[in-house]
Amino acid sequence: MDRIRITGGNALHGIIPISGAKNAALPLMIASLLTSDTLTLENVPHLADVEGLMRILGNHGVDIAVNGRRERQEEGYSRTIHFTCRTIVDTTAPYELVSKMRASFWVIGPLLAREGRARVSLPGGCAIGTRPVDLFLEGLAALGAEIEIDGGYVNATAPKGGLVGNRYRFPKVSVGATHVMMMAATLARGTTVIENAAREPEIVDLANCLNAMGARISGAGSKTITVEGVTALSGARHRVLPDRIETGTYAMAVAMTGGDVVLEGTNAALLDNALDILRQTGAEITATETGLRIVRNGHGIHPVDVVTEPFPGFPTDLQAQFMALMTRASGVSHITETIFENRFMHVQELARLGARISLSGQMARVEGVSRLKGAPVMATDLRASVSLVIAGLAAEGETVVNRVYHLDRGFERLEEKLTRCGAIVERVSE
Ligand code: EPZ
Repeated sequence: MDRIRITGGNALHGIIPISGAKNAALPLMIASLLTSDTLTLENVPHLADVEGLMRILGNHGVDIAVNGRRERQEEGYSRTIHFTCRTIVDTTAPYELVSKMRASFWVIGPLLAREGRARVSLPGGCAIGTRPVDLFLEGLAALGAEIEIDGGYVNATAPKGGLVGNRYRFPKVSVGATHVMMMAATLARGTTVIENAAREPEIVDLANCLNAMGARISGAGSKTITVEGVTALSGARHRVLPDRIETGTYAMAVAMTGGDVVLEGTNAALLDNALDILRQTGAEITATETGLRIVRNGHGIHPVDVVTEPFPGFPTDLQAQFMALMTRASGVSHITETIFENRFMHVQELARLGARISLSGQMARVEGVSRLKGAPVMATDLRASVSLVIAGLAAEGETVVNRVYHLDRGFERLEEKLTRCGAIVERVSE
């Protein structure tokens, strides 16, 4: 199993190209199930989760053609991929596939909308929390679907004539359930109004793509999304938006190690709240023609309290990275996680590097220390793993991050991007 070995202490200087967003690419790929025409996606990041979802879509009958030519050769492996689902050959998404990646559960929306039925394995829990699917099921039931749970599978059946538009208010904001509801409603009869919808940029990206395919969606990015159903969707060409979590992660790395880095191909509007918080810690952040410039010179890191919230609040997907930064702050900060009940798996591992963190329910109290010291660490999810990489970059000596497959799920060419900016990071294969 691969590991990442980091020799800490170097400030970061240079340019880091930001890849297409994983969490936009996944629902966009799933949207290809809604049409028999070709959906072409540009700037698809080269990640294990994307490869995994390709296998799942292939199982449903999606023909996938990856451009041989690498797009933006210098900047990453992000590619243009063509997805064509002439016919859906299987409406079942089996346990073996869905259990590996939660987002694959989202195929339930398009399968149900296009074929009138879907049998999708329950995704089960994961390292960051129980993550139920009740909101998905309630939302689809509001569109007329009959839902039954049997042997660990959700069996969903649309009424004769297909799903029917309706007004539905989510009792809690969910990114995935909003994606699914929006996709399902595109082919429903009549108008669907989704209230208390998630407002993440990835929701807007999916709505833009669906509209390019002929859907009639308005209000994406606000709390209320209206979808007027159409009888069929066509193909389209769409560019995946930049990854705001990757952007925030590298910004925090620079804020922690010091240095001067331009994050290319991204923009501040995707993560205003997190950038404001980073400024409060002492980093200078400016928009450039090509992206964002992050500078931190000499001064200490100020402690800042943070509470994770749905967009436009501080993202839970940056909580672990921010905690890494706060371990070196000149004082005490409090970090409260409100989205997932168990997203503190990095705390014990950061402690191995010398961090002082105590947990009380959903809040972590982080007492900044003047130095971290390298150690072997491992994490059980993607964002926690990268928080350890960031901490390792700022720690004295050698840090070895185990279970690198978590990083490969969501960070394209991580070692290369960091190494080009002067970090000492290498992948060690056994
Ligand atoms: C998406 O997950 C992201 N995944 C997550 O990123 C991200 O952390 C999360 O949104 C929150 O921003 C993708 O986009 C692929 P939710 P999702 O439904 O859609 C509860 C990463 O590291 N809930 O918005 O699964 C749920 O348990 C990943 O890239 C229900 O109670 O998140 C959680 O507490 C990790 N019932 C809250 O809602 C439901 O039916 C928000 O989850 C659905 C969700």
